[in-house]
Formats: sequence, structure tokens, C-alpha cells
Amino acid sequence: MDRLLIHGGTPLSGEARVSGAKNAALPLMCAALLTREPLQLANIPHLNDVSTMIRLLARIGVQASLDDRLGVELHARSIAEPLAPYELVKTMRASILVLGPLLARAGEARVSLPGGCAIGSRPVDQHLKGLARMGAEINVEQGYIAARARRLRGARIATDMVTVTGTENLMMAACLAQGTTVIENAAREPEVIDLANCLTAMGARIGGAGTDVITIEGVESLHGAAHAIMPDRIETGTFLVAAAASGGAVRLRGADASLLDAVLGKLREAGAEITVEPDAISLAMRRKPHSVNVRTAPHPAFPTDMQAQFMALNAVAEGTAVIVETIFENRFMHSLELQRLGADIEVSGNTAVVRGVARLQGATVMATDLRASASLVIAGLVAEGETVIERIYHLDRGYECIEEKLAQLGARIKRIH
Ligand code: UD1
Repeated sequence: MDRLLIHGGTPLSGEARVSGAKNAALPLMCAALLTREPLQLANIPHLNDVSTMIRLLARIGVQASLDDRLGVELHARSIAEPLAPYELVKTMRASILVLGPLLARAGEARVSLPGGCAIGSRPVDQHLKGLARMGAEINVEQGYIAARARRLRGARIATDMVTVTGTENLMMAACLAQGTTVIENAAREPEVIDLANCLTAMGARIGGAGTDVITIEGVESLHGAAHAIMPDRIETGTFLVAAAASGGAVRLRGADASLLDAVLGKLREAGAEITVEPDAISLAMRRKPHSVNVRTAPHPAFPTDMQAQFMALNAVAEGTAVIVETIFENRFMHSLELQRLGADIEVSGNTAVVRGVARLQGATVMATDLRASASLVIAGLVAEGETVIERIYHLDRGYECIEEKLAQLGARIKRIH
């Protein structure tokens, strides 16, 4: 298994390019299931999760061709088998995103129930409840969700909590339903808007994406389209925090500041100077960071996917920060690993108190989930001496060439096979 070796202590400096967003790419790829014509996606990130999704779609009968300019064409001429098997779903929960499109297009789907995962139980009951409201017959048998519907019907659906992939699944299913669907308490994440824009280009009739009420007027069929995937706001935020924690100065090309209001606000509060250009964000940190309190909540509030990285920043900041995680029940596992590097963190329930320390010291640590791994990389970049991060397959799921991009910014980092 690969490991990362980091010699800490060098402030990041220079330029890097932000990739296409993982959390936009995965639902967009599933949208290809809704039409018999090809869907062309540009700015696709090279990530393990994207390869897993290509494997899953291929199994279902979708032809995928990648070009060497970050493009992929997905062609679901017909659905060979509407099945998402356990082996693929267990490695990537976002596989659940094939459920809505398969049901709408093929009238049936069998998708393995995603189990628990490191950051909490993460059920999919809201996806199922919404599809049932649209007339699907849903059974859970032998660990699989078996769903059927001759044709889905438009419905008014109010989800019990804000769910990103739940909103995306229901929105995709509703595109081919008979009549109008209204999703209340919808997720307002930018990735939902990106998906709605692509579906609209495919002929769907969608209003309100980006607000908490989305209205979808079903159509008989969708057609092919070409769409460029939005930049990854979490990758952007991760590199900005790494620069801030290391006292560096970086410019990230291809970044979109309008997607990152809450994160940029917190970085400014920590003392970073931020300059925004139409297609880039620069950050310079000329002092030791101030600690900043963080409370995660659905967009446009502070994203849970940036919580771990801010814990690493607070670990070396001046002062004490309180971090409250309201989205996932068990998303502080990185705190134990950060403590192995010398951080002072006390966790109680969904609250962590982080007292900034003068320095961290390198050690061997273990990545537990995707964003936790990113926080360990940030901590390794600022720690004295050598940090080894094990189990980095989590990082490869969601960060494109992270060690190459960080090395480009001057970090002393290498992958050990
Ligand atoms: C998506 C993102 C993930 C991010 C998360 C929250 C993708 C591929 N992944 O995950 O990176 O951390 O949003 O911003 O876009 N819940 C239920 N029942 C459901 C659905 C959700 O109880 O049917 C709960 C979850 O357990 C969690 C909360 O709702 O506590 C939010 O989860 P959700 O927004 O659905 O997360 P994902 O869409 O899986």
C-alpha cells in the first residue's frame, strides 16, 4: 500500500491548477444513464472514485471513452443490466446515484445498500422515501435495494434533512417522470446547480436549483449534451488552508471564489490575505494564524468537507478554537492522529476544542477517510521533521495528483510504493 512521506517546515509558494470537482463529476456521470445519446463531460478529474464510477457505469452497459484532454464521453445506448453490485458500492457510497436515473430510464434497479462508513452511519432512507413518493415500489432484500416503477410520477417531496446526493438522485429521477416534482428542503450545494445545468442542457425542465425548493417538470426523453465540470471547491479550500497553515503564498488557477464564501471568510479571519481574480484565488499568510471557530452546516454555511483541514490549521494557530460538526456523527477521527503529531485537541460529542501549539512534530499517522487524510497532509507540511501518512488510498479517491501539486508548490513530499 502506498504511503506519503513529508518533510515539514517549508511554506508553500507558487502556482497550481485546481481540478474538476469530484462531487460534481460523480452525479454528472450518472446523468448519462438518462439518455440514449452520448453525454460529453469536460474537466473530469483523474481520481479513483471517477474510475470506480466508470467501472460501475460500464457494468450497467454504458460505453465510456476518455480523451487525453480531461474529457470523457459516456454513451448509454441501452441499459444492459440495471445493477450496482456490493463490490463497487462498498468502495464508493456515491454509487447510490445510479438508482434514480436507472429507475427513471429502465423502470427497475438493483443497488447494493451502502453500509456504514468511517464518518458515520449515512443512511439513504431519504432517497428511497422520495422515490416511493414518485410511485416506485421499493424492497430491501439480501442487502440490495430493489426498485421498480413502470413510469415514475411527479410528486411533492420534503426531505427530513438536507441531503446532497439525495437531492441529486431525486432530481435526476424526476426529469423523466410524468408530471411535476417539487423537492422541498433541497440541498443548495453548487454541485446540485452544476448537475441541474447539465440536465437542462440535456433537455430537462428544472427551476430553483441553488434554492431549497427545486421544481422539475418531467419530459418524455432527454438528449445528449456537452458540459464542463465545475472546479473542485474542496480541493481549492484544502490547498488554501495548507498555504495558510505553512505561512506561504500561493495562487490557484481555475478556482472559483464564489463557491467558497464561508471558507474564504474563515481564512481571512485567521489572518490570511486573499485576492480574488475571475479564474484564480491567491492567498498569502504573513503571520502565525489566529484560531477560528467553525460550525459545519449545509451550503452556503461552512462545509463539513473542510472541517478536518481547519482542525489542522487551528492546531498550529494562536488561541483556542471550537469546532462543531453538525452533519456527520463521527467525523473527528483525524483528531486522534493529529494528536500523535502533538496537537492539543479535546473532543466531546460533536464538539472539538483545539488549543493551538507552538509546533507539531512529525510521526507516522494513518489516514481514516478522505478529508481526514487531507488534514494529516496539512499537519505533515507544518510539522518539524518527517511525517509518514499510511493508507493514502483515501486521498487518491478525491485528490488528483496531490503530491505532485504540493511538490509544485515547494513541499517536500513523495509517494512511497
Ligand atoms: C455529500 C458529499 C460529501 C459531503 C456531504 C455533506 C457527494 C458525492 N458527497 O455526501 O462529500 O460530505 O454531501 O455535504 O456529493 N442522511 C440521512 N438519510 C439520507 C441521506 C442523508 O439520514 O437518506 C444524513 C446523512 O447521514 C448525513 C446528512 O444526512 O448525516 C447529510 O448527508 P448527505 O448530504 O446525504 O451526504 P452525501 O450526499 O452522502
